[in-house]
Amino acid sequence: MKKTMSKVALLLSAALLLTACASKDAKKTEAQNTNPEKVDWLEAPSLKDAYAGIFEHIGVAINEKEFKDPESMDGVIRHFNSITMENEFKPQFMFNWQQPNTNGTFTSSKGVTIKVPTNVPDFSRMDSLLKFAQLYDIQLRGHVLVWHSQTEKSFFRENFKANGALVDAETMDAREEWYIKTVLEHVANWEAKFNKNKRIIYAWDVVNEAVSDSANASAWLRTDSDWYAIFKNSDFIINAFRYANKYAPADVQLAYNDYNCTMSGKTAGILKIIDGVKATASDDFLPGRINIIGMQSHVQSATPAATSFDVAIRQFLAKEVDVQITELDVAGLTAATDKVGKYRYNELFKTFKKYEKIDGAYGISGVTIWGLNDERSWISKGGTQTPLLFTKDNEGYKTKAAFFGALEAASAE
Ligand code: GLA
Repeated sequence: MKKTMSKVALLLSAALLLTACASKDAKKTEAQNTNPEKVDWLEAPSLKDAYAGIFEHIGVAINEKEFKDPESMDGVIRHFNSITMENEFKPQFMFNWQQPNTNGTFTSSKGVTIKVPTNVPDFSRMDSLLKFAQLYDIQLRGHVLVWHSQTEKSFFRENFKANGALVDAETMDAREEWYIKTVLEHVANWEAKFNKNKRIIYAWDVVNEAVSDSANASAWLRTDSDWYAIFKNSDFIINAFRYANKYAPADVQLAYNDYNCTMSGKTAGILKIIDGVKATASDDFLPGRINIIGMQSHVQSATPAATSFDVAIRQFLAKEVDVQITELDVAGLTAATDKVGKYRYNELFKTFKKYEKIDGAYGISGVTIWGLNDERSWISKGGTQTPLLFTKDNEGYKTKAAFFGALEAASAE
């Protein structure tokens, strides 16, 4: 039997629809009136345009799902010109949690021959993300090559077995070269083949978080890491920059990245890394290169003081490297402290702006926000914290007061 709707039912459903729309509109207007800073992110001024000519890169960390979601990407490309994959380029993801085989061999620059896997790194995810970056015409910050966390245990152990003993330093040094070479050459080949040899990944965090939180002049390396357990010194850090320099195209910027960079012990440890890598720059054999200190900047709402950024940034720049703020977010905020968030982002962006790169001098070349919207942040994890610039509700992405704090700093005196 053919089902038909009675006239009344039709009228009723039309009326209901109108009421629903009207009340949605009323809610929208109400929300906008009570909070003029909460607007559709596509109607807000563009953050990247506001910072054009100040910072070369205005970035955001996103995940694969967001990259493949047109609604998310509409706003990403409106407000940002750089993306950091939140997880997808980390060693663990590149190994794709697989058991590496030992079917290949690799002979290092130092002439050490080791067995290496042929089934990892797995580039399928990376390649699809490179393709998306190309479609959206947006660049990526590579994160990360050498890190103690989110790296498969098997990488450090005999026969690439997660329960094996740690390998010796000579083997690990060769594995480090193999991994860095394999990833960097893959990206360079992809760019050569599919992107007219133009960079999609413009910078890499070569080493992440290798300095101790309680660093002092004599003991400044993080010790709770398999890298440290094998090397017991900074060779794996310095050598990573030698290998990255060997295998990355010359226009790819090489970064050391860490958190709490404003703490004096951390700052001092990082300065030692810069000195260590720079000391290798004129070596005939495997010269190293370091271009950037990445200050993660997972900050609290009041600490560290903006002035401690001045102290650290000046010391890094004096060593002739650029600085990038790589993972900015603000912990300890809630919807009730919206204004605090606005103030905090404003004072931080004003501070960063003082170091904009001018006439080929060293300065801050990029600022990246660690996540797209509060609800997705690693800090809030679906809870009540509001660490970022945008929020997302049923109607989509909206700006927050914090967004305007960041935006207005661009035109502030
Ligand atoms: C560190 C890492 C990031 C990320 C955050 C937490 O800062 O560098 O990749 O894991 O922790 O999300």
